[in-house]
Amino acid sequence: MRCLTHPLLRRLLGLSPLCLPGGVSQNKGPILSPKWLPLRQSCSARPGLVTATDVVNYWQKVFEASGIPEARESSEYIVSFVLGAKTFQSLNSKSLYTPLTAVQQEQIQQLSIKRLERMPVQYVLGEWDFQDLTLKMRPPVFIPRPETEDLVSLVLEEESRKCEKNSGLCFPVPVPHPVILEIGCGSGAIALSLLCKLPQSRVIAVDKKEAAVDLTRENAHRLLWLRAGSDSFSFLGSAKQLLFWGPIDFIVSNPPYVFHEDMACLDTEILRYEDLDALDGGDDGMRVIKTILALAPSLLKDSGSVFLEVDPRHPDMVENWLQVHPNLLLVLRAIHKDFCGIALSPL
Ligand SMILES: C[S@@+](CC[C@H](N)C(=O)[O-])C[C@H]1O[C@@H](n2cnc3c(N)ncnc32)[C@H](O)[C@@H]1O
Repeated sequence: MRCLTHPLLRRLLGLSPLCLPGGVSQNKGPILSPKWLPLRQSCSARPGLVTATDVVNYWQKVFEASGIPEARESSEYIVSFVLGAKTFQSLNSKSLYTPLTAVQQEQIQQLSIKRLERMPVQYVLGEWDFQDLTLKMRPPVFIPRPETEDLVSLVLEEESRKCEKNSGLCFPVPVPHPVILEIGCGSGAIALSLLCKLPQSRVIAVDKKEAAVDLTRENAHRLLWLRAGSDSFSFLGSAKQLLFWGPIDFIVSNPPYVFHEDMACLDTEILRYEDLDALDGGDDGMRVIKTILALAPSLLKDSGSVFLEVDPRHPDMVENWLQVHPNLLLVLRAIHKDFCGIALSPL
């Protein structure tokens, strides 16, 4: 399992990139310093030969000297990727100590230069893991954050609760397979994970950005569901066509929810490469949240729910907003504080 402290999370934890004396400022591009030791000089293998461990150590030092966050992890992920592994820890001793070929060294250098330009590792590798899936990643489509995996788990728990409740009845009735709508699918992480875990469900993924819909489609094809002739996955570019799909069991979304005034504080990786529209929730972070809530009653079944990932300040704001919009007949049912998600149901 690949795991990085995500820039957003790092900001919340108050961690900052390691700054060595003489390191470059975060906002400047990398300095390809002539002071770097030639790679071979810092090697442990026979003269002229470099191993994976040498290269990881070498690029770690270069990243640290350039103020690149998570220098060790970045270096390990790049080298492992070129060697066909997901993590450095999963490389066997043969891979660790066999000298790298010139082609492998060149590939590692090309990828490391992208990291020096502050490109997130997920885009450098062109793929990343979310739950059990390996998804293609491409700028500027939003990189799924680890905390969003909790949102998926909550929907799965709700579905299994519904099934258990039904099986406890004296005369269980067949539970129809759920219809799930994800609003703002990005790379397809949430929608595809849910479809993977609930293969009988019908999943509709919507995003206003063509680049996101295209990447979700590619990820779905890559994961073979569509090639297998499944018609359980649909893509839409516009929420206007949604009424056609109702009634829906679960609306799930990790909408743009960063308060506009906080946008400028985001890490360089985000500001340079990710679609800022995917993060910017407007002055109160609620721009898209309000749109989803206003749309939900016309789409949901009576027993349906909305699951949203939000900022820790939002649950109170959502509750207040619902009080002045009683016509929506939605009630805030639960708040899960670990990643700050909320679940709402029709009254
Ligand atoms: C924070 S990203 C989440 C992406 C993905 N669900 C994930 O968790 O990795 C928000 C996504 O919502 C999309 N989006 C923003 N406003 C939207 C709207 N009004 N309708 C549909 N999608 C929207 C953005 O293009 C972006 O892909």
